[in-house]
Amino acid sequence: MSALCEIRGLSATYRGHPVPALTNIDLDIHAGERLAIIGESGSGKSTLARTIAGLLPAGARVRGEMRWSVGQAPLPGRDMGFVFQDPSASLNPVLTIGEQVAEGARRHLGLTWKAADQRALDMLERVRVPDPAKVLKAFPHQLSGGQRQRVAIAAALAASPGILIADEATSALDMIVQAEIVSLLDELVREAGMTLVFITHDVALASGFADRVAIFRGGELVEAGPVGAVLSVPENIYTKTLLASHRDLSTPPLIRETAT
Ligand SMILES: Nc1ncnc2c1ncn2[C@@H]1O[C@H](COP(=O)(O)OP(=O)(O)OP(=O)(O)O)[C@@H](O)[C@H]1O
Ligand SMILES: [Mg+2]
Repeated sequence: MSALCEIRGLSATYRGHPVPALTNIDLDIHAGERLAIIGESGSGKSTLARTIAGLLPAGARVRGEMRWSVGQAPLPGRDMGFVFQDPSASLNPVLTIGEQVAEGARRHLGLTWKAADQRALDMLERVRVPDPAKVLKAFPHQLSGGQRQRVAIAAALAASPGILIADEATSALDMIVQAEIVSLLDELVREAGMTLVFITHDVALASGFADRVAIFRGGELVEAGPVGAVLSVPENIYTKTLLASHRDLSTPPLIRETAT
């Protein structure tokens, strides 16, 4: 597979923080692949996702390069879908769900409002939102956290982006819905050639679904490569420890130690 994006020497530092959240990352994103980003809490996964999408907060400093094969960076919302870790961050509280899911399709696919509304309804059905016609007319605060998460995924996919960056997009969902969304994403990767970069702390999900994985720790890339090579035969001692312990990566180390 050819590299869609070559990330070289990438570092990111938030305003007012002396220590970089990401340090000197070299990583390729291949066109049409499922790339899993794994690492414990605070390891820089969301920072990487936001850096790739150009969505870091104001004042953050980025060094290094991201070379896109298409010449310029994909436009978020049109060529690139992004699902935030916190689904409320993806949704506008004063617009209905229908307006938000339809907007991307209308603007970027050139659909009429009517066609875009139909597309929004289809997308909500595909992410298994119950009673999608009613949800279209609702505002984000009227939905449960799991529904908001699914709506955020639908909104990110509505304009058929070439690349989707999903930050813990399914972790708030129960196993069955998670499996359905994973199969939808799988379909989009296989049939539409979408590139998927997904962040997860679920090693089992990554090993079953990813083509390649990248392991992060303390803002650094520990190891990256094909899923079989990294998760079955890890070269790195940290990756070995991580797999051997099968610990829940959602808990930061300090809290985990205190709790045990
Ligand atoms: N907006 C921000 N301002 C300042 N520092 C931040 C901000 N967001 C994250 N950080 C810091 O950057 C580092 C990496 O955080 P990041 O959110 O990228 O980790 P993560 O791997 O996504 O963690 P989690 O699994 O908990 O979501 C952490 O030390 C974090 O405290
Ligand atoms: Mg995160």
